Amino acid sequence: MDHDDIPVLTIDGPTASGKGTVAQKVARTLGYHYLDSGALYRLTALSAHRRHVDLADEHALAKLAADLPCSFSGEHVLLAHEDVSDAIRAEAVGNAASRIAALPAVRQALYGLQLRFRTGPGLVADGRDMGTVLFPHAPLKVFLTASVEARAQRRHKQLIGKGFSANIQDLRKDLSERDARDANRAIAPLRPAEDAHYLDTSDMTADEAVQAVLGWYAAVRKAH
Ligand code: C5P
Repeated sequence: MDHDDIPVLTIDGPTASGKGTVAQKVARTLGYHYLDSGALYRLTALSAHRRHVDLADEHALAKLAADLPCSFSGEHVLLAHEDVSDAIRAEAVGNAASRIAALPAVRQALYGLQLRFRTGPGLVADGRDMGTVLFPHAPLKVFLTASVEARAQRRHKQLIGKGFSANIQDLRKDLSERDARDANRAIAPLRPAEDAHYLDTSDMTADEAVQAVLGWYAAVRKAH
């Protein structure tokens, strides 16, 4: 299969919208690869924290991002062979990731790595700019969102499940701030691609959202 013919489904949306869960389930059902692009920004942020790199030092951060010794094994995320799957989910790491994600050189440094996830038989790519910047010709683009309240509840459950302490009010504030930063940055802001299918999952289960995405994809495949 020609590289350009390898199908990509993009699932973009705000933090804690449930897109990671939905994207992983869609990938598993289709037997496709899965790209969690947010994890790359989180890994860069974690790596910066550990090496005491200033979050405003764009050049040093871009270098870290370009040489990120990371690998993915099933649900596990490794940084220089250390399993950091839980460590990168901490709210402080997510907030730092959102700050450094506004730096053009950091985004640029992570582009190549993200594009390399596109291998046969297909890819489900989850992030903020998958449909707008990384894979603008993807045959199916989804913009998945949920109310701030629903997202705060989901993030709370996720954090508690991972053994972190969490407070709903702080989370609501964090999410709103992160949304504003992601949506208002100059480069690759969070916004739906023009041809994206919009999915509000506030009152949906993950499986219902997965079925909606698979339904759209089946229709796209039939039409081609
Ligand atoms: O999706 P997740 O919450 O793990 O992403 C962490 C941060 O990384 C986001 O708040 C966002 O600022 C940034 N990000 C991005 N572009 C992506 C994926 C994540 O800017 N494609």
